[in-house]
Formats: sequence, C-alpha cells, structure tokens
Amino acid sequence: MRFEDKVAVVTGAGSGMGREVALGIGREGGKVVIFDVNAEGAEATAAEIVDAGGSAVVHQGDVTVAADIAAAIDRARSELGGFDIIHNNAGVQLEKRLHDTTEEDWDWVNGVNLKGVFLGCREAVRAMRETGGGAIVNTASILAHTGDPFLPAYTATKTGVLGLTRAIAVDYAAEGIRANCVSPGDMETPMIEKYFNATDDPAAARAEMEAAYPGKRIADPREVANAVLFLASDDASFVNGEFIIVDGGLTASTY
Ligand SMILES: NC(=O)c1ccc[n+]([C@@H]2O[C@H](COP(=O)([O-])OP(=O)(O)OC[C@H]3O[C@@H](n4cnc5c(N)ncnc54)[C@H](O)[C@@H]3O)[C@@H](O)[C@H]2O)c1
Repeated sequence: MRFEDKVAVVTGAGSGMGREVALGIGREGGKVVIFDVNAEGAEATAAEIVDAGGSAVVHQGDVTVAADIAAAIDRARSELGGFDIIHNNAGVQLEKRLHDTTEEDWDWVNGVNLKGVFLGCREAVRAMRETGGGAIVNTASILAHTGDPFLPAYTATKTGVLGLTRAIAVDYAAEGIRANCVSPGDMETPMIEKYFNATDDPAAARAEMEAAYPGKRIADPREVANAVLFLASDDASFVNGEFIIVDGGLTASTY
C-alpha cells in the first residue's frame, strides 16, 4: 500500500504503460486522475480501478494545452483530496528518417513528447511548491541514451525529457520535489502494435525486434510500470534526477 493517502495524475493513462501505472497506484491505495486525450480509454482504466474498490476520475485533455494539465491537477486537489505525484507519460511515435521528416512532423512529436512533459512538470512544480513537495516521473525511452536512425525526432524528444528531468531535480530538491525518468525498451502496447502493423510484414518486424533482445522478447508494460511505481513512491525518497532503464538488457549489450 505504498500510495495510501496519495493522489496522482497520470497522463496517457487510457492505454499501454500509463494504464498499468494508474492501475498499480490504485491497487496500492492511491487515488488517480486518469488523463488522456482518448476519453474511451481513460474511462476503461478508471472503471477498472473503481471496480477494484479504488478511486479514480477521468480528465479528458491534451498534454500540449497547459490549461488542461492545470485543470487535472485542480481536480486532483478538489475531488481526490490532494496532489502528490505526476507521471508525464503521454507520448507519440514517428517513424521517419531525418531527410523525410517535415517541420510539421517535428512540431507534432515535440509538442506531445517534450512540450507536453514540460507543461506537466511546470504545472506540477507550481502546485507542489504550494504544498511542500511531491514526485515527478517522466517517461523517456532507451532512445534518451542511444540513437535510432528511423526515429530522429522521437529520439530528440526523449533525450530532451531526460535533460529537463535533471534540471528540475536539482532546482527543486530543497522544496521536497523529486524528478526522475523511466527509460523503457520496446513494450507490448498499442504503440508498438501500430509500428508493427505499418510494416510490410508485421510478424517479421516483431520477430526481428524480439531477436535483438538478450532475452528474445520485449517487455510487458507492467514490467516497466513497476519501475515507475518505485520512483513515484516514498521507497525512492532519495532517488532524484535519475533514470531507470527497463529494457531486458538491450542497451547493455554490444552484440
Ligand atoms: N511502447 C513502447 O515500445 C515504448 C518504448 C519506449 C518508450 N515508450 C513511451 O512510453 C509512453 C507510453 O507509451 P505506450 O506504449 O503506452 O503508448 P500508447 O499509444 O499505448 O499510449 C499512449 C497514450 O497517450 C495518449 N496521448 C497521446 N497524445 C496525447 C496528448 N496529446 N494528450 C493526452 N494524451 C495523449 C494516447 O491517447 C494513449 O492513450 C510514451 O511516452 C512512449 O513514447 C513506449
């Protein structure tokens, strides 16, 4: 029950890893604002938490809109009784080599993945400074640590998320605010399914990806959510400005 008496906002909680983090916080006694642009997915996550006896509210919003995030934090305080944790997790992926990437592509991926995280962090810091602190966990990627020729814009945003997280960590530690990142490898979520399905041979694309991993499989999003739950909890009370890579050893290997 690490999240008893805690209230969290989780962005992108209508699907994939954000959903698993929200369910995990709910399982351990926390109350959650399920923030997503996709209301249907968000409602499903919230219903699962409530059906299991927990507390959750849905806030349909866009992470690129500061007022949407601020409103979600307000609802955490007014409807769930506080605001202790934000997981800035909503993200989009663009599979395009650099020479094919348009300015519109760049702005879209940066808008959601980097500006969205900036706004989530800024609104959270403003609120947490008023109440004496809290925990911020941002979803980066193994592409904050390595380069992918097919995802240059995405790689740039995730590297930016790591830098932003470190700057926040050092600036606000004295006010009781911790900021950390999780850096997932490939996970079994709708995002990766979309990637496989966009290839000529989805089964072959999946097999090739799995073969690259030392354990010959990609992650269940719950395996990554567990690292987020640790970073968001008081178990990580002196962990600040850090990242946890959860990739089954992919980036540890040379060949
Ligand atoms: N799946 C992977 O292999 C993988 C690997 C590394 C990092 N990540 C990162 O993990 C995070 C979660 O990814 P996932 O795989 O669960 O993806 P997903 O597509 O399953 O879920 C992402 C959620 O974010 C929401 N979202 C997208 N744009 C939004 C916006 N502007 N405002 C609010 N919500 C928005 C979507 O509606 C969706 O519910 C992302 O930041 C992603 O970049 C994923």
